[in-house]
Amino acid sequence: MARKTPKTQSADAAVDELRTLQDLIDWGASRFTATGLWFGHGTDNARDEAAWLALHALSLPLDLDADWSDHGLDRAERRRVVELLERRIQTRQPAAYLTGEAWFCGLPFLVDESVLVPRSPIAELIQERFEPWLATPPARILDLGAGSGCIGIACAMAFPQARVDLSDVSEAALTVARKNIERHQLTERVHAIQSDVFDAIPPTRYDLIVTNPPYVDAADLAAMPDEYRAEPELGLAAGADGLAIAHRILADAARYLADDGVLIMEVGNSETALQQAYPQLPFIWLEFEWGGHGVCLLQKRDLVADSIPRGEG
Ligand SMILES: C[S@@+](CC[C@H](N)C(=O)[O-])C[C@H]1O[C@@H](n2cnc3c(N)ncnc32)[C@H](O)[C@@H]1O
Repeated sequence: MARKTPKTQSADAAVDELRTLQDLIDWGASRFTATGLWFGHGTDNARDEAAWLALHALSLPLDLDADWSDHGLDRAERRRVVELLERRIQTRQPAAYLTGEAWFCGLPFLVDESVLVPRSPIAELIQERFEPWLATPPARILDLGAGSGCIGIACAMAFPQARVDLSDVSEAALTVARKNIERHQLTERVHAIQSDVFDAIPPTRYDLIVTNPPYVDAADLAAMPDEYRAEPELGLAAGADGLAIAHRILADAARYLADDGVLIMEVGNSETALQQAYPQLPFIWLEFEWGGHGVCLLQKRDLVADSIPRGEG
């Protein structure tokens, strides 16, 4: 009897008939494509997503040597891989929730369903140490809406002299952020603060406020693939125009910035709405080599309170 193609094999048949890690990754990728999964949480294609999960199921590192892909797996190993690939299909959860880990700026972060899966293009800015936008290395940094803490912790690693505050309104998110602070041995200079935007942030002059707040507008929220519904809505939704939190950040950021301080804020697809709302603000929209958009930069002097009445947009 002819061997079935990977695409048509059932999960049980895959365990019985496939032999190598590569066979299982191919099978998983075919199943992911056939079942219409969405990839936007750490990978951008079915094969990488299947490989990530297969390696995790076998407790193998993501940078495994390619020679390994032809090694035969025993039945128990094949079963573990197939079950995890099937869970990805059945639950529609992003792979990072199934593995409990995501990578950002080359660093591993614990994640669970109380935080968004790290994926901000701000990673690229951090890896370039925000050049050429900061006059000197920042001594005080605030990551507002920190979630897992990925942005603030990566900043702390990029600037070893900096003290960093991670703030979030969600205590559940801060529990994850605190675990990541400990994981990266940063408890001396990175602290978590529960705060609704700036409401509970102690008076501080930050050299850099970096924020990836919720910014998804109502239309985008309604159209999102299931994988995003596995994430906390608190981390995504920001009112009809996506600017509910951005307005509050712009209103108060100047009070928390040093004189030559800089605000970097991600608003994604709400970029146009933000520009229309503040036609007088000299937003600098940052460009990304590895993809991403909707991240703006403002200086403190752009943000002094009486210069930012909201436009009609
Ligand atoms: C888009 S997520 C970003 C998480 C993380 N910085 C990242 O890049 O993966 C936005 C975060 O803002 C938090 N948030 C929502 N409303 C907030 C508010 N009013 N004040 C502070 N944080 C808020 C959410 O809990 C969520 O963790």
